Amino acid sequence: ETPIAILSALAEEQEGLLEHLQDARRVDHGGRVFWTGRLQGLPVVLALSRIGKVAAATTATGLITHFGASRVLFTGVAGGVGPGVQVGDVVVGSHYVQHDMDASPLFPRYEIPLCGQALFAADPPLLATACEAFNRVQPALRTARYPAKLHTGLIASGDRFVSSTAEVSALLGALASSDYCPLAVEMEGAAAAQVCADYGVPFVAMRTISDRADDTAHVDFPQFVRETASLYARAFVLEMLDLL
Ligand code: ADE
Repeated sequence: ETPIAILSALAEEQEGLLEHLQDARRVDHGGRVFWTGRLQGLPVVLALSRIGKVAAATTATGLITHFGASRVLFTGVAGGVGPGVQVGDVVVGSHYVQHDMDASPLFPRYEIPLCGQALFAADPPLLATACEAFNRVQPALRTARYPAKLHTGLIASGDRFVSSTAEVSALLGALASSDYCPLAVEMEGAAAAQVCADYGVPFVAMRTISDRADDTAHVDFPQFVRETASLYARAFVLEMLDLL
């Protein structure tokens, strides 16, 4: 029975799931802590990548090559940059782009050199299941403060914590020149998506919006991670596993 991998960047995004893990066994590999066990009766392996594209890529590689993960599900938080993508909403990524990739003029802006593509797509069945899972838990998560709206679309990843409106404008302007309109920015998804594409392993990411990547992002982000991220990740993943 091959496990389903649940990958998160931060401990707060994982801790709610760890509490539910049955037959939990800790395995240290490649400088990362992994937990194998069962959730909702299914074999899973939980991993913390830590932050950034390289960290996410090596962790995703370990999940696939060392743990034999058959599917990779990323859960975590992101900065909302699309219109109407507010704190407490959720973005499920249909596609992923690395916004800091630029080998132009040798290759088109954003294209992964010698890979022939800039965008990596989520696995369609996993994407559909992720949206269905979120819709089912949404009524339980929504509050007066956070309506918890679901958005599906492009997620842009890069090794930058985006924390000013000027930076968001520059990022969106450059991406729009290549016809890319991301809903959210984070620092791991597109790297994990690239690794999964290389290995032919289905991938999807769900991101709760912790901040608007603007001048208050550095305040909103830690507060949201502390108070809310775990709640969303646990509700979403348990529902998702029920549907798989
Ligand atoms: N993850 C959560 N918020 C983020 C931001 N503003 N920039 C990059 N990654 C993030």
